[in-house]
Amino acid sequence: MYATETLEEKRLCNIGSYEERLRGFDWAIAEKEMGWGRGDPLNIGWNLTDRICRLGLAKKPALLWEGSDGRERTYTFGDLRLLSNAVAAVLSRLGLEPSERVCLFLDRVPELYIAFIGILKMGAIVQPLFSAFGEESLSTRLLDAGTAAVVTQKKHLPKVRRIRAQLPALRTVVVVDAEGLALKDGEVALDLDSEPRLERFPIFPATAETPSVLHYTSGTTGQPKGAQHVHGSLVSQYLTARWVLDLKSDDVYWCNADPGWVTGTSYGIIGPWSNGITQAVLDSGFGADRWYGFIERRGISVWYSAPTAIRLLMRDGPQAAKRHDLSSLRHLASVGEPLNPEAVHWSREAFGLPFHDTYWQTETGCIVISNYPGMPVKPGSMGKPFPGIAAAVLDPATFEPHREPGRVGVIGLRPGWPSMLRGYWNNPDGYAKKFTNGWYLTGDRATVDADGYFWFVGRDDDVINTGGHLVGPFEVESALLEHPAVAESAAVAKPDPVNMEVVKAFVALKPGFTPGPDLELEIMNFVRKRLSPIAMPQEIAFVASLPRNRSGKILRRVLRAPEWGEPIGDISTLMED
Ligand code: WTA
Repeated sequence: MYATETLEEKRLCNIGSYEERLRGFDWAIAEKEMGWGRGDPLNIGWNLTDRICRLGLAKKPALLWEGSDGRERTYTFGDLRLLSNAVAAVLSRLGLEPSERVCLFLDRVPELYIAFIGILKMGAIVQPLFSAFGEESLSTRLLDAGTAAVVTQKKHLPKVRRIRAQLPALRTVVVVDAEGLALKDGEVALDLDSEPRLERFPIFPATAETPSVLHYTSGTTGQPKGAQHVHGSLVSQYLTARWVLDLKSDDVYWCNADPGWVTGTSYGIIGPWSNGITQAVLDSGFGADRWYGFIERRGISVWYSAPTAIRLLMRDGPQAAKRHDLSSLRHLASVGEPLNPEAVHWSREAFGLPFHDTYWQTETGCIVISNYPGMPVKPGSMGKPFPGIAAAVLDPATFEPHREPGRVGVIGLRPGWPSMLRGYWNNPDGYAKKFTNGWYLTGDRATVDADGYFWFVGRDDDVINTGGHLVGPFEVESALLEHPAVAESAAVAKPDPVNMEVVKAFVALKPGFTPGPDLELEIMNFVRKRLSPIAMPQEIAFVASLPRNRSGKILRRVLRAPEWGEPIGDISTLMED
């Protein structure tokens, strides 16, 4: 256990004493700090900009941005306010209505952050999608959400154009860097550098229950599900950013997640800016030297990262970190996958600070279990429930909390915290299945120790977690089946030293096709283009047929177990599934 935080540090951190915060906790603490009364209008877009400007912070840098080509831009909270007003006005003029879905299909360019706020200000629902998605991943999600507009950039426009005919609800495509481009019908240019800044925009009077962000996430069965969040989620995101990430007024914060995933919106936009915190964004891929250089140049003090990124950094050794002056760092946190104890030990060596593991999901909208500044870190543990979140490890047979510590069960959360999803888009049955015995079931397995620390054991389903990104096996299998050579397919998780898991596919070929490395590569690329580099199988095993139960369901468990060196178990009972 690391109990290195001194009393002085404990006094200085926002959360103070975890135990004291637990006693008599009320979300009203956050509401009061934000000056919001229950029943009053609550618009996230207004809170991230207008409210912060009213606090006298209009001139404070909000976004320190660096592009892959080394370009740099700085936006103050005042800039964000005026530019997001301009975006909101343009979208309204284009005929977009409150509660319609507007997709952001952009790299981490400033327009992504500004449009996110603008869409919320005019009352539409933001649907952020990862810009590396291929046509099929994109069209599945746009079709399901009945998306009315997509905001994108030149480089990703061809993908949108190719699927447009399949999307009857899509009326408008907004291009943020359309200069020199011949736009087609239904495509509009929006250049934020020339668009007049707008002092006033009639902010949509959302309430705490008005839909805000729609994030797609993968499950075992069926296509990805849209987790519907509401403006009231701000209450949780604001307070967890303060207490878990410990954000303070003079911090420079870096969250290296892409807003195509929930970490990149809850803590890459809403959490920091609702606290009036300066954040830095690096719109480029991984590189140890590049990342350390960024921390050094920008004076990053709080860094929210992920285990895969840490493992990539570990490959270059602590010396690579020592070549830079990283003394600005004061607090580190991680999310997305289990944070192995080695990574915590290593970060102490490299940065003189431990990474604090945090646990949550797209559905929870905010951190629900975590290690807090000022609380001893047990390396390998996810920490303790956030005050205001009732979490327990449930007996999988009874769905009652286990009485003794150390027993494996499903993590359950008592519904009702402000940022909990309010439903899956178009999928009330999928949503209803997430609740049993008064608990929201996370689908993750864990144990709790005698001190109340949670320890992650594994997922309770077939979803593949590769580098902190969830991939649904069904989506991969569907894409595989579209390849002319594939008769049947199954996708499972295979262990990987850096990404924790990668996708491995089992494929039975149609008659007339011969297995071999060329076909393997061709099929891999086929999936990469349709879905994304993340969902691409890293390996394909050609098999004569796939194991199925009597009702014909493919038994992924039978294929997965040998990959992990686990026993397959009693096949005869599996076959009864
Ligand atoms: C996994 C990301 C172990 C877990 C915010 C969860 C974790 C899923 C941790 C959610 C952690 C997230 N330790 N596993 N600290 N954090 N996970 O929806 O399986 O993209 O259910 O949200 O990631 O992934 P999602």
